[in-house]
Amino acid sequence: MTILEICTYPEKVLRKRAEPIADIDEEISRLADHMADTMYSAPGIGLAANQVGVPKQLLVADISPRRPESELIVLVNPEIIAAEGQVTIEEGCLSVPDYQAEVKRHEKVTVRGLDLHGEEVVIEAEGLLAVVLQHEIDHLNGVLFIDRISKLKRDLYKRRLRKQLAKPDS
Ligand code: NI
Repeated sequence: MTILEICTYPEKVLRKRAEPIADIDEEISRLADHMADTMYSAPGIGLAANQVGVPKQLLVADISPRRPESELIVLVNPEIIAAEGQVTIEEGCLSVPDYQAEVKRHEKVTVRGLDLHGEEVVIEAEGLLAVVLQHEIDHLNGVLFIDRISKLKRDLYKRRLRKQLAKPDS
């Protein structure tokens, strides 16, 4: 088990557009394994590669990490090919610690990507899984959930963060 360090806002790698992966090799498989370990131990329900400092188009997700029927999703070069409806759910992010806010998303999405064998995968997701996939694909485009809240809320969050960072022992 390998736990990677999770980058947090405002680290620049979170703003980088992740590069498509041309070759799904050993290194990518290992990265996916380590990302899953990192996500489960956090604990979190999704993680994008740039959150661990690697700007490549790779995500892992599992919306029921504590249940035995849980299922790990690993997607290479994921893209949203269809979306419908609207839903608002309170979101958090391992890269934006100690903050949650309601974000408006599509209720249903169809996501296409590759698995670690290079086979095409199409996932029709709704509810929480749809939200997680949109959140992680946002990460791969350098977008954070705090970009999708009101400017007022975002400014409040930034001010709080600046205060926290200014305290020498926190
Ligand atoms: Ni996140």
